[in-house]
Amino acid sequence: MAYTEPYSVDWDALPNVAMPFMNTVHSDELALVTRLLASLNNAAAPASIDAQISAWVEHTQVHFAREEHLMQEYNFFAAPCHQGEHEQALLQLLGVQQQWLRERDTAALLDYIQHWREWLQQHISTMDFVTAQFLSSFNIQVEL
Ligand SMILES: [Fe+2]
Repeated sequence: MAYTEPYSVDWDALPNVAMPFMNTVHSDELALVTRLLASLNNAAAPASIDAQISAWVEHTQVHFAREEHLMQEYNFFAAPCHQGEHEQALLQLLGVQQQWLRERDTAALLDYIQHWREWLQQHISTMDFVTAQFLSSFNIQVEL
């Protein structure tokens, strides 16, 4: 399945949002996927790729759940819309993980990673941007 051309904008340039903890989580996630990308390009052992994908899935679940919890706690008006994007993205990532475990198709995984990187840019600059703007009007301390 072909998603996109390789991500053409600066891979490391994530949009900043008004809640610092969110920026930290986003750059941690990007670092994790950047390592996975390097491992794939260096033909690392499948077990190492498996572990890195699991860590990515886990990081994503915690990342989304944290944002969703805050949206609910503070009654963010666009919570269902934001949460809907999370659900779709997580389902896709879980599907890609299953496909990797079944087929060990490096090209398909590399392709998905490019798609994910575009998704992340789009998601942060829309959903996360507005959510962070909203949350920043409260005095919220988040421990990561
Ligand atoms: Fe989000």
